Amino acid sequence: SGSTPAWPYPRFIAHRGGGVLAPENTLAGFREGRRYGYCGAECDVKLSADDVCFLLHDDTVERTSNGHGAAAAMSMAQLARLDAGGWKGAAFAGEPMPTLDNVAAYCLAQDIALNIEIKPCPGREKDTGALVAAAAARLWAAAPVPPLLSSFSAEALRAAREAVPHVPRAWLVEQVPADWETGLRELGCIALHCDYLGLSAELAAAIKQAGFQLLCYTVNRPADAERLLAWGVDSVCTDRLDLLAAG
Ligand code: G3P
Ligand code: MG
Repeated sequence: SGSTPAWPYPRFIAHRGGGVLAPENTLAGFREGRRYGYCGAECDVKLSADDVCFLLHDDTVERTSNGHGAAAAMSMAQLARLDAGGWKGAAFAGEPMPTLDNVAAYCLAQDIALNIEIKPCPGREKDTGALVAAAAARLWAAAPVPPLLSSFSAEALRAAREAVPHVPRAWLVEQVPADWETGLRELGCIALHCDYLGLSAELAAAIKQAGFQLLCYTVNRPADAERLLAWGVDSVCTDRLDLLAAG
């Protein structure tokens, strides 16, 4: 069918798995989200040198693991040997960088709606979009709720659409561009995800009026979350699960 399945857009979404309460983009983070009652989570996904979809925010591994160098140059076997938790505290030492397969299994078992941010290593935009979309379609094939793909990379979104048109997509921007509606339609996206700092009540209303979903990141103060939700923003993505009530 040509219709795009919806995504539930839980009001509160845990940024990078469990926000700043656990190492980002690890299963320890997702478990933290569950502990706080979150039913939505975002994570960053890229490709290893041998084309495995795995979780990592940066292009290099040093900030969030005990390894060194560009992630794009490392095989999944090499990445899997790194400690991606110890930098956040001794309690998390030995926590691995999960594959998208690992995270899909957890989210499906726990009924967590997942926003997969396609975060390509430089030069790998097209492959990452296509392979993440294909993996998402395969892993969630029997699931009642699909994952949501989002990206700052229009090239990755186009490749995702071409590979698997039916997995829903969102266009990720810092500042909402003047031609947001044209962009959303051209990319076949159901939603706009933007930095909350550049959004106004008027712009939020126009985006909703045009029939798109709207998510804001990274919202860490309850008063900001309340204001945005009152403007009609569907979801806020947060690092502070301890401050923003799930639900
Ligand atoms: O998807 C929202 C947010 O994750 C985008 O920024 O840098 O945290 O991936 P970043
Ligand atoms: Mg992200």
